[in-house]
Amino acid sequence: MATVEQTSLDMARLEAFVFRAVDEVGATLNTALVVMGDRLGLYKALAGAGPLTPTELAERAGAAERYVREWLNAQAAGGYVEYDPESGRYTLPPEQALALTDSDSPAYLPGFFQIALGSVIDSPRIAEAAETGEGVGWHQHNHDVYEGCERFFRPGYNANLISTWLPALDGVVEKLEQGVSVADVGCGHGSSTILMAKAYPNSTFVGSDYHEGSIETARQRAAEAGVDNAEFQVAPASGFTGEKYDLVTMFDCLHDMGDPVGAARHVRDAIAKDGTWLIVEPLAGDRVEDNLNPVGRAYYGFSTLLCTPASLSQEVGLALGAQAGEARIRDVVTSGGFMRFRRAAETPFNLVFEARP
Ligand SMILES: C[S@@+](CC[C@H](N)C(=O)[O-])C[C@H]1O[C@@H](n2cnc3c(N)ncnc32)[C@H](O)[C@@H]1O
Repeated sequence: MATVEQTSLDMARLEAFVFRAVDEVGATLNTALVVMGDRLGLYKALAGAGPLTPTELAERAGAAERYVREWLNAQAAGGYVEYDPESGRYTLPPEQALALTDSDSPAYLPGFFQIALGSVIDSPRIAEAAETGEGVGWHQHNHDVYEGCERFFRPGYNANLISTWLPALDGVVEKLEQGVSVADVGCGHGSSTILMAKAYPNSTFVGSDYHEGSIETARQRAAEAGVDNAEFQVAPASGFTGEKYDLVTMFDCLHDMGDPVGAARHVRDAIAKDGTWLIVEPLAGDRVEDNLNPVGRAYYGFSTLLCTPASLSQEVGLALGAQAGEARIRDVVTSGGFMRFRRAAETPFNLVFEARP
């Protein structure tokens, strides 16, 4: 049997796969190198500085030259910086400079790498859990997962939430402008809550999350932003307090919950009769084959290491996964007692749903 398999091997395909793996190992290591460059301020020191030698970059960033030189060569080999052999200088192209240093840009990337690194750091624990099927809660991860998550999602919220997603909901912006009450459930570090609270000063916002550490950070972030119309509570989605909310929001968290149907039921109880539930979920098609692309690959990866274990760690453990898709989300929402459900918007990374009682 083994002989038959061996003779049917396509050696060219095998070689191509091995070389692809070389690229992937380089990319895996580059995740740590991007986080390193971000932490040491190497990209910021390179951005707009023109061609620099390793010594000049090391001086600007206040880092050790020998590390900086090796890091620069890895960055050049990966196409993150350009190298001029004649002068021995390295340049960060403007597109990379924007994506790696401008935290206001929708293309800002360091958070994406940071949450990926945090997920990989915790992966031995996930592999152990996979032997038995037990879960690993969001609260059991390392700091890079939480901060990376905040820094990864915030640029997308900055770019879309106020300008596109809320206006895509029926009559919600007018209500927010007049002044209504909003619950932002599973808010993590509160980026979405703070963004909305700043945009709609007449409305009041209650951010909640079951993870105490995230809520502490959300409170700090709100204080730093000078926001006084948002408060935060530690609560599961099935137990946040308050009633007759005109708007309930969930950003990239419904699929992380163990009992999303129970959460939907609680939202149904806590929402006003003519209220709106905004659900933002990762972009996904309903079928596996719809998601076999680079975005789906990244999301299935995060789903294996973060989202699925998070859900399995909670009661019910439905484990929708980050690539649940519209049909499954609709199922959850309507099972929770909502009569109306529609896709209101989407981006290359997100699905945006509107649910009404
Ligand atoms: C991927 S993070 C998204 C956080 C935040 N919404 C954002 O966009 O930055 C998922 C969040 O869901 C929270 N979460 C998971 N299960 C929850 C539950 N049952 N009730 C409330 N929050 C939950 C986690 O603590 C985490 O903060």
